Amino acid sequence: MHSSPENRVRSDAGRPDLDARVFESVLDMLPSEANPTPLVRLQRLVPPGSTLYAKLEWMNPFGSVKDRAAWEMLRDLEERGQLGEAKPGRGVVEPTSGNTGLSLAALASMRGYGMRAVVPSKVPDEKKALLRLAGAEVDVTTDALCPLPGSEDGAIGLARTYARAQGDKYVMPNQYENQANARAHERTTGPEIWRQTAGRVTHVFTALGTVGTATGLARYLRKQNPDVKIIAVQPSPGHDVPGLRNVSELSVSKLFDPSLISEILEIPHELAYTRAAELFRREGLRAGPSSGLIFEGARRVAERDGVGLGVMIFCDDVFKYVSSMRKHLPELGKFNVEGE
Ligand SMILES: Cc1ncc(COP(=O)(O)O)c(C=O)c1O
Repeated sequence: MHSSPENRVRSDAGRPDLDARVFESVLDMLPSEANPTPLVRLQRLVPPGSTLYAKLEWMNPFGSVKDRAAWEMLRDLEERGQLGEAKPGRGVVEPTSGNTGLSLAALASMRGYGMRAVVPSKVPDEKKALLRLAGAEVDVTTDALCPLPGSEDGAIGLARTYARAQGDKYVMPNQYENQANARAHERTTGPEIWRQTAGRVTHVFTALGTVGTATGLARYLRKQNPDVKIIAVQPSPGHDVPGLRNVSELSVSKLFDPSLISEILEIPHELAYTRAAELFRREGLRAGPSSGLIFEGARRVAERDGVGLGVMIFCDDVFKYVSSMRKHLPELGKFNVEGE
């Protein structure tokens, strides 16, 4: 279905006009070395003597860093004959804390496939509603925040069951084990950073969820300059930061390669929310909580060692987390109501 002329969504006009920013299809907006997400320098919150840039992944067409992995995984399935003409009527099922599901749902519907997202119960309501808005079926499971391994009634188990029991209807990309996830960042995020900094990048600060981002960009950047420091920032255990994992929860990922990570910093998880608010108020950056946490990690390294040219991967923006932000920052719910 995806290749019939009326459903063809890639531009026929050749390369998009990136200078004019005119695109024949939203798919042409997906990031690449030639069309990178922006790097924006922080002006006010950086310790003196250091330079930090935020890479704004929310500028991707479906709003997060996960557009990269979702696109690479879908194309890989099509190329291997697991989706598309070789498997008519088949769609995708994926366990997700929201962002991968949203990117997959949007991309799948553009390619003519159905999408079923299996999400843990503590994922913010905004994300669940957005998944429905993007056209996905949504199942909510009992694991708390991130899909947990080993539990058949958790998100990963349920998605697997769909893929096993209804193989004609669903294939599961499985972002936690799929090398195409890391490859997306080796092919796009790493080269973008290298080019945007003219090879001067000294540190990259990133989070760990599936670990696709950290592994993929580290593979590329380490080849260009083995001295680039890849610093992973993670929330303290028992956290409430959607999309992220503490190292103790990382066994689920087959993409985690500790030899590529220079240092793992653990940050008290509450700071994800306070720093995200500060980034919006003082830098004009509408960062989500995982970006708040990454910023705090980068700030601490800048204070401790100095950072020549640091790039922070800001995975998504705050709009999907307003209910979580209100929970952690109760003053956000206090308004001056006229007449009271
Ligand atoms: C908001 C957010 N930040 C960070 C990450 C981590 O990225 P990765 O899965 O590539 O490790 C995710 C992943 O789901 C996420 O949703």
